[in-house]
Amino acid sequence: MSNRIAVVPGSFDPPTLGHLDVIRRAAALYDTVHVVVVHNPDKQAMLPIAQRLSLLEQSISEQQISGDIVVASWSMGLLVDYAADVNAGVLVKGIRSQADVAYETPMAIVNRNLAGIETVFLLPDPAHTLVSSSLVRQVAGLGGDVTPYVPGPVARFLDTGARGI
Ligand code: PNS
Repeated sequence: MSNRIAVVPGSFDPPTLGHLDVIRRAAALYDTVHVVVVHNPDKQAMLPIAQRLSLLEQSISEQQISGDIVVASWSMGLLVDYAADVNAGVLVKGIRSQADVAYETPMAIVNRNLAGIETVFLLPDPAHTLVSSSLVRQVAGLGGDVTPYVPGPVARFLDTGARGI
């Protein structure tokens, strides 16, 4: 288990500028970063997993985030099993608020109890503090402009692809 290999997990439904900011910071800190799209059964999904993977890859490329970055999905069970498969010793999460701390802390403790893996919390740029995928889903679903909150490929997809144009 290497502390130089990190996993950045999430629903990424869709990826936001906040997600990309955390991925950029993780890529600067770790030798290899696995960005892993995980199905969260507690959330009603907007995009299929394959679409989220494609949007993440396009967004990482468009934002020229450098480093050894692997984009993958995981639906085979516990996230810590994915981390073990790729020899990752760290999970990285972005923390925007006290609400995120309350949401993430139990998961971090459970993951540590399950596999001895640590979770590192990174603070995104305050410009992204109010951005969430759920808000983006709601605004996009009601026809609003989400350009300020998402990377270019996601904005273009939500503007055209989601309407089948
Ligand atoms: O972006 P999200 O929806 O807040 O991400 C939550 C996610 C997908 C990272 C979390 O639900 C998760 O790790 N799910 C995988 C299943 C698992 O390992 N559960 C036990 C520890 S939380």
